[in-house]
Amino acid sequence: MHSSQESSFNRWRSGASRNWVFFRQWLRAPLTTASVVPSSPRLGRAMAMALPADVGRVVELGAGTGAITRELLRYRVRPEQLFVLELNEELHDDLTQAFPLSTVVCGDARQLPQLLAAHAGFRDGSVDAVVSSLGFLSMPPRLVEEILEASFACLPEQGVLIQFTYGPKCPVPAPMLRRLGLIARRVDFTLMNLPPASVYELRRRPAAS
Ligand SMILES: C[S@@+](CC[C@H](N)C(=O)[O-])C[C@H]1O[C@@H](n2cnc3c(N)ncnc32)[C@H](O)[C@@H]1O
Repeated sequence: MHSSQESSFNRWRSGASRNWVFFRQWLRAPLTTASVVPSSPRLGRAMAMALPADVGRVVELGAGTGAITRELLRYRVRPEQLFVLELNEELHDDLTQAFPLSTVVCGDARQLPQLLAAHAGFRDGSVDAVVSSLGFLSMPPRLVEEILEASFACLPEQGVLIQFTYGPKCPVPAPMLRRLGLIARRVDFTLMNLPPASVYELRRRPAAS
């Protein structure tokens, strides 16, 4: 096979095998996996570009097959400053191989402060931003709230959490945002994902002046 054909064939094959791995995880745990296919590179780019240009340490929650991880590394985050968290053991093992320069951990987003504190480079338990690839819409509200509490416990005053959703509005309901003292803003929308997705930025509500 011609070398350029070979590389596009290999790209197709690795994409197809990622889709297959992801689909198998969805069959096993549809609510946790929350999607039938991985995110598109276009959505990954939108998530990366939603981060501040000078962002330092970043956590990605629920990295799945690494589709968004790849774009975070391409556009915004240095590999040694990325902490990748995934609950599913099989996906975690693949991520460990795919991103050897980053810290890749198997665990629950609700334990984020403890997980950060247990890993070199993140022991102070603080990061500049959290990127969430979690399917909030298919999770019980209490679980979403616990994940947000854990995430903001690791963020400084101006820190942001970037979240995508396939729904028509912010996946965190307004009363929950109010309870947690957060505000949400839609920062991007892309048709180039299956299904189309919006990107939201969540941050702490500024103190009333
Ligand atoms: C919508 S998928 C992410 C898709 C990913 N962007 C991709 O393209 O492959 C959500 C991922 O979050 C993981 N997950 C679900 N609940 C989690 C939790 N509490 N902590 C960490 N990861 C979790 C799932 O195993 C799944 O891989």
